[in-house]
Amino acid sequence: MPQFNDTELTAAVIRSFENTPNPRVKFLMEELVKSLHDFVRKTDLTFDEWCYAIDFLTRTGQKCTPTRQEFILLSDVLGVSMLVDAVNHREREGATETTVLGPFYVGEHKTTPHGADISPNLTGEPMFVQSRVTDLKGKPLAGIRVDVWHADNAGFYDSQKPSYAAEGPSSRARFITDADGRFFFRTILPCSYPIPTDGPVGEMIMQVRRHPMRPAHVHFLVDAPGYEPLITHVFVEGDKYLDSDVVFGVKDELVAKVARRSDAVMPDGKPTAAPWHLMTYEFRMKPGEGAAPKPMGASVEAETVPA
Ligand code: BEZ
Ligand code: FE
Repeated sequence: MPQFNDTELTAAVIRSFENTPNPRVKFLMEELVKSLHDFVRKTDLTFDEWCYAIDFLTRTGQKCTPTRQEFILLSDVLGVSMLVDAVNHREREGATETTVLGPFYVGEHKTTPHGADISPNLTGEPMFVQSRVTDLKGKPLAGIRVDVWHADNAGFYDSQKPSYAAEGPSSRARFITDADGRFFFRTILPCSYPIPTDGPVGEMIMQVRRHPMRPAHVHFLVDAPGYEPLITHVFVEGDKYLDSDVVFGVKDELVAKVARRSDAVMPDGKPTAAPWHLMTYEFRMKPGEGAAPKPMGASVEAETVPA
């Protein structure tokens, strides 16, 4: 019967993967075990700490629903999501920078006409968003799917509200770029907001004395055939949390000046109450392949959600 000291144990577990048919899976399992074992050795992890970690991960899983992904939140606040983003987007070649998907990409992005108000029942200062999708040389890309989503002016996404099932999406839509690569819509100015703090991830953030805030932003997912899917945000310049985003998602190039306007009409010539805000941003797509992410919960759509 084999007996192992703590170093031999690592080697034995690694050997246990030697028949794994997929070489990438084999490599990932080996490296994961090496890192986990190193962590335990370096920290002299106690039984109490190990139990705490198991309980924390259990509660993280239990907090997940089709519209709430506590594991993504955990990955986000530990900087893992942005690290995965960084290692997969080392060379942008002038393409728009990427950032986290976040846990609120939940589907229900209905194709919406340009100019529509995607936040019709929400209070807040009006904002007009005008944008264009191009290739790296600035050639407009027509007929491209662009999903947008953002929080309301109290900091909540539609899918976080009990009314979501009955009322459907709000501040969430899909646009298809026109012949000139453009799309535009009305909404409200988003504000900075806390990530959900009523679960284990929020508990951890509080225990380590971090704040839970994200700077104001609008999410965009641009999915153009023949180009890498672009998952990004446009942040509102001047937000006080730009330098301390709880998920480390801010990149300078993604911060846009959002102009405060007092004209009586918006750029599409339609009347508006003043003041209002104008967000202008262009997305440059990098040639390549890749599937856009599936909305969270897509894999459990067929299941019954407990009341
Ligand atoms: C978001 O921007 O929607 C988000 C991203 C990461 C964690 C929580 C929220
Ligand atoms: Fe967000």
